[in-house]
Amino acid sequence: MREIKVGILGFGTVGSGTVKILQDNADAISARIGAEIVVSRVAVRDLTKPRDVSLHAPTLTTNPQDITDDPDIEIVAELIGGVEPARTLVERAIANGKNIVTANKEMVAKVGHDLRIAAQSSGKDFFMEASVAGGIPIIATLGESLAGNQVREIAGIVNGTTNYILTKMTQEGAAFEKVLSEAQSLGYAEAEPSSDVDGYDAQYKIAILASLAFGSRVNVEDVQVEGIRHISPRDIVVAKELGYRIKLIATAQGSPNGMRVRVNPTLLPLKHPLATVDGVFNGVFVRGDAVGDLTLIGRGAGSLPTGSAVVGDIIHCARNIVAGATGRVPYMASHDLPMLPAASSWSKFYARVRVLDRPKALAAIATIFGDHDVSIESVIQRAMPDEEAEIVWVTHEVREQDVHAALATIHALPVVRSVDTALRVME
Ligand code: NAP
Ligand code: HSE
Repeated sequence: MREIKVGILGFGTVGSGTVKILQDNADAISARIGAEIVVSRVAVRDLTKPRDVSLHAPTLTTNPQDITDDPDIEIVAELIGGVEPARTLVERAIANGKNIVTANKEMVAKVGHDLRIAAQSSGKDFFMEASVAGGIPIIATLGESLAGNQVREIAGIVNGTTNYILTKMTQEGAAFEKVLSEAQSLGYAEAEPSSDVDGYDAQYKIAILASLAFGSRVNVEDVQVEGIRHISPRDIVVAKELGYRIKLIATAQGSPNGMRVRVNPTLLPLKHPLATVDGVFNGVFVRGDAVGDLTLIGRGAGSLPTGSAVVGDIIHCARNIVAGATGRVPYMASHDLPMLPAASSWSKFYARVRVLDRPKALAAIATIFGDHDVSIESVIQRAMPDEEAEIVWVTHEVREQDVHAALATIHALPVVRSVDTALRVME
């Protein structure tokens, strides 16, 4: 049987899962391709580090160019992460005629367009299924299975760390900091958690999905991002009482006029398919003009689920090599759609305001909302200690800029102690 040699850059969480699947399922994989996949080299930084998976052959190297420059290697899987040196290594591998598989959302979101063009110009494949939502096959779903649709909307829970934190806060009533340190000790959250909890990981992922769905380049910096540090146990409790769950939702909406792509903590009604996607699980909801609504739910991170996506892409490349049909890159950007301003978007909103418990406090706030064309769907007031009251407002669909302008004016009222939270509500 023909051998296809694969070089792997990185042997951490994803690299070791990838190698394990290739080794454990070798016979089935060979049968599916009609060729044998041979992991011929794996690049790491530290040769002495203990590894979770033992390689069948002594193939570790600390020189990535042993992979990018090896003429026998046909597929390079980049599983290092970050933009550099990953990007330079991928460029070098493409220049040397390799097909590329990557799990690297930051690299794909920031410089993926140029890399895909380089791969296409060289007649090589460029696949990236693992870069969004780990084991969930959302890239192939959008790029191939739904390619006949006009995708109207995507909404996703695409970051497992924040979903784990919000789920624990919901189930245990615990504060953000406490759950974050638990997640760090369990190895779910990084020691430096900003990429997850401040929303940047989700920002990269939704930029990739929007680009696939709308066929447009998406500048990552234009994707509005709001993390979850300011979500309090009180918001979670109040949202629950109102019949909602708070989730970090990455959304992309497209029309011929432009697109809106953003990441925000959002209240979801319990009937929404993403409301019950809990723990480290991810979920992606897609609305297409032909297919209607569909939701994919699964493991968005971890060694084997992410390795599953990487191995799927390696098999895809290998089949194309066997068929003499490489050169396929996901269709992403044929034009540049404008990014529509978030301020002019419409949504329901939840706002929690603390006031001095005095006559006319509620009326004063209601008047300001009305003056800004913000129509109220429901309002709940509760007396609190220290002669304060908490007022929770849920609006009808209103313009985002009107809500923010109203809340700024409300904040300045002498009777208002604080505007604690303002969050979008999805129906
Ligand atoms: P990781 O555990 O930190 O592993 C990174 C690997 O890259 C390590 O083996 C490291 O070597 C190696 N490496 C780093 N710099 C290198 C260099 N200059 N030359 C050679 N090797 C180098 O990271 P990971 O979690 O597997 O993530 C890999 C990629 O997958 C990232 O793009 C990440 O965003 C993406 N991803 C991860 C997950 C997940 O669940 N972890 C899910 C989806 C996507 P040493 O082992 O010697 O340090
Ligand atoms: N840090 C990411 C998460 C890993 O928590 O979802 C998967 O991309």
